[in-house]
Amino acid sequence: MFQWSNDHLIGHETIDEEHEYFFKLMQRLTNEVERGEDGQSMVIRTLSDLLDFTQAHFRYEEELMRSHAYEHYESHRKHHNQLVDQLEDFLEEVGQGVPVRNTQVLNFLKHWLKTHFQEQDLPLAQLFPKSDLVRSRRSG
Ligand SMILES: [Fe+2]
Ligand SMILES: [Fe+2]
Repeated sequence: MFQWSNDHLIGHETIDEEHEYFFKLMQRLTNEVERGEDGQSMVIRTLSDLLDFTQAHFRYEEELMRSHAYEHYESHRKHHNQLVDQLEDFLEEVGQGVPVRNTQVLNFLKHWLKTHFQEQDLPLAQLFPKSDLVRSRRSG
C-alpha cells in the first residue's frame, strides 16, 4: 500500500531520502495494523514517531525555504502546519483507544503525501540545479 517508487522522487537528495523514510514509517504502521496490533501501544508509538519525523522533516524544508528566500514559503508552511495539526488529532484519537483502522489516518496520509510531494515539494526542489539531473533520470 505504501510502496516507495521512483515516481515519488522530486530531485533533491535529502528531501527524497526523507520522503522515502515517510513511506517506511507508513508501511510499518500498516503492517502493525494488519498484524492485529491495532489499538496497542506499539501503534501509538509508531504514530508518534511519524509525528516527530514529520516535524523534523518540515523544519528542514522550511529552513531551506527561508535560506533561499523562497517565494511560496508561507503557503507551503501552511500546508505543513495543517498536516501536523491533523496528525496530532489522529494521535489523540488513537491514544483514546480508537483503532487506527477506524480513523482515516492511512488514507489521509497516503493522499496528503502524494499530493504534497508533487504540488509543494517539487517546485521547491526545482530551485536546485541537481533537480534537472534526477528528473531526467526519472523520465528516461
Ligand atoms: Fe513540504
Ligand atoms: Fe517534504
